[in-house]
Amino acid sequence: MIDSIAVRVPAKVNAQLAVGGRRPHGFHDLANVFLAVGLYDEITVTPADELRITVEGPDADQVPRDRTNLAARAAELLAACHGIEPKVRIHIAKDIPVAGGMAGGSADGAGALLACDALWNTGASREELLDICAELGSDVPFSLVGGVALGRGRGELLTPLAVGGTFHWVFAAADGGLSTPAVYGECDRLRAERGAGDTIDDVPAPEPSAALLDALRAGDATALAAALAAGPDGSSNDLQAAAVSLRPSLADTLRAGTEAGALASLVSGSGPTCAFLAKDAAGAQQVATALAASGTCRTARVATSPADGATVVREDRRAPSA
Ligand code: C5P
Repeated sequence: MIDSIAVRVPAKVNAQLAVGGRRPHGFHDLANVFLAVGLYDEITVTPADELRITVEGPDADQVPRDRTNLAARAAELLAACHGIEPKVRIHIAKDIPVAGGMAGGSADGAGALLACDALWNTGASREELLDICAELGSDVPFSLVGGVALGRGRGELLTPLAVGGTFHWVFAAADGGLSTPAVYGECDRLRAERGAGDTIDDVPAPEPSAALLDALRAGDATALAAALAAGPDGSSNDLQAAAVSLRPSLADTLRAGTEAGALASLVSGSGPTCAFLAKDAAGAQQVATALAASGTCRTARVATSPADGATVVREDRRAPSA
């Protein structure tokens, strides 16, 4: 009899987030180059009388305990597909910044799904799990698979990408999160303001950068840094200008990382976490120390990519009763 299952799930950074026009249903077409990074949440599921979420970690008070938490929705969706009652306690040990642009909520959804699947022994195929992930949110399938991948559609249609080495990053978390829909909305507003239009009829289809994919394949940090700075607004992240517009202090954080010697500085996804690429582990440590002392962020953490996707790390079995 299984007593509990623990799953570890990584955060992500978008090496490229090319945002196309808004579709009539409100989502944007993306060319999204995801890198899983070694900052993790750990999700532990235990049989219980009813579905319940508990959270620990420095930002625990900002994590919803109700059915809006993707971990709860993952358990409910999987249970509904298999005619099971989702009677489970889901404990989230949170280390990924909350509402930070690093897919922390998506990680918890993917982690709870994998953990409940193992606890209930549903026999679901990988395809079924990925379909449920896509229903939960655009970034959730990537949280399940990890590594490095290109996400098309709204980000959920994944193709694995080759990566030739380890990249060293620093992540500067901000005080307070940013709402992803608000940042996409600001991106639309800035495009409309420029007179360029913001629908799929106005914006060219987003495409992955060949130079960026080459740099990843070669494991070449210097070439990757050049590609990270090569987008239309001086960033491979089309949401960066929108995130900075909503949170102007991010410009100071980005500048502090560049001055500290980062090869490249960019907003992670929809922000407000900022990501800094370093040459090597020592370079990352130097940038993190300078950022922490700069007063422009709440914390600065080093992490490497790629990292594995959601992985079962513990299975506790109850001793059979005599
Ligand atoms: O899919 P997810 O729930 O993570 O998306 C959150 C919000 O981000 C959506 O409601 C939408 O406003 C925005 N979004 C978008 N285009 C995408 C992905 C997300 O506009 N491709």
